[in-house]
Amino acid sequence: MNNPLTDLLQAAFAARQPLIERLHAEDTNAYRLFNGSTEGHPGLTIDRYGDLLLTQTFHAPIDAHDRADIENFYAAALPGLVAIYNDRSRANSRIVNPLPADILAEAQKPREFHELGIRYLVQGRHAGQDPWLFLDMRAGRRRILQEAAGKSVLNLFAYTCGVGIAAAKVGATHVVNLDFAETNLKVGKDNGRLNDLPIRMRFVQSDAFAAMRQLAGIGQPTMVRGKKMPAFPKLEKHSFDLVFLDPPRYAKSAFGVVDIVNDYPALMKLALLCTNEGGTLVCCNNAAQISREVWADQLERCAKKAGRTIRAMEWIAPEGDFPSHDGQPPLKIALLRV
Ligand SMILES: C[S@@+](CC[C@H](N)C(=O)[O-])C[C@H]1O[C@@H](n2cnc3c(N)ncnc32)[C@H](O)[C@@H]1O
Repeated sequence: MNNPLTDLLQAAFAARQPLIERLHAEDTNAYRLFNGSTEGHPGLTIDRYGDLLLTQTFHAPIDAHDRADIENFYAAALPGLVAIYNDRSRANSRIVNPLPADILAEAQKPREFHELGIRYLVQGRHAGQDPWLFLDMRAGRRRILQEAAGKSVLNLFAYTCGVGIAAAKVGATHVVNLDFAETNLKVGKDNGRLNDLPIRMRFVQSDAFAAMRQLAGIGQPTMVRGKKMPAFPKLEKHSFDLVFLDPPRYAKSAFGVVDIVNDYPALMKLALLCTNEGGTLVCCNNAAQISREVWADQLERCAKKAGRTIRAMEWIAPEGDFPSHDGQPPLKIALLRV
């Protein structure tokens, strides 16, 4: 007899069959198989990245019985995947559960998977917490593939550079990936090398505020309120045809506070100043507590204050492996013609 968890996995898998077929036909073998928050088990996610089956828990760990059910279900449904479990239900979303030595070795092995014909690396375990590609952003990367040919692109908070690689792949003239974490950019460089990119992308390791102020031509002072700022790379004033702004929820540095719930405009204003007149700014916000409507209003007001007109706004929704019952997916992506 099936237990309730297996029933939920089965329902989610059945609901995804048409999507999975389409994704496979598009040379994509990475997708969310089970999105617990909307499919009956909040805090549990199960993703496929090529031959890796990654189970993560965010609220409470699952027991050995549930793990066996998950592994058995997918061993039958999608044979041949290596199953790794990461419990992130404790403070700061840190992975805390130990793995047996042989499984840990498998988890730490770099593996390749593909999305929309682009190759990426993933590891079940690495020095950070998040997998190396956020799957709900596939919709954003898909749009970049349609938008970026012939354009100069600034990828802010680039992480492992998925957006920049998608842009370069379809013929962007110039791509700058910007992130303050060297380890993330290193994965981005490795990802870039896996693909036959027609241009050499640029990687800038910098705080985003310091970089955007310089690119926008405002400049980043080296002393602020009598205090010497940490060193930062010097950049010339430069604006881009397409700017992708996908900040984390909260991050504080000497240069500013990233707070997408309480102060999105602080980021958007600078990003707008880095976007050419007549260009495109893609803004992202993954804070579930901010509704589309409230956020859209903030974007409108911020543009007005900055003296820029939003000529058109379009929502890009996550794809069907991130189902939402209320039309309010946590990840909101707004494409703005500015
Ligand atoms: C949510 S991830 C971005 C995801 C990415 N846009 C993608 O498509 O995969 C957040 C990234 O922001 C970077 N980050 C956080 N605060 C930063 C700051 N002040 N300046 C530059 N990068 C920052 C982190 O290192 C991390 O790589």
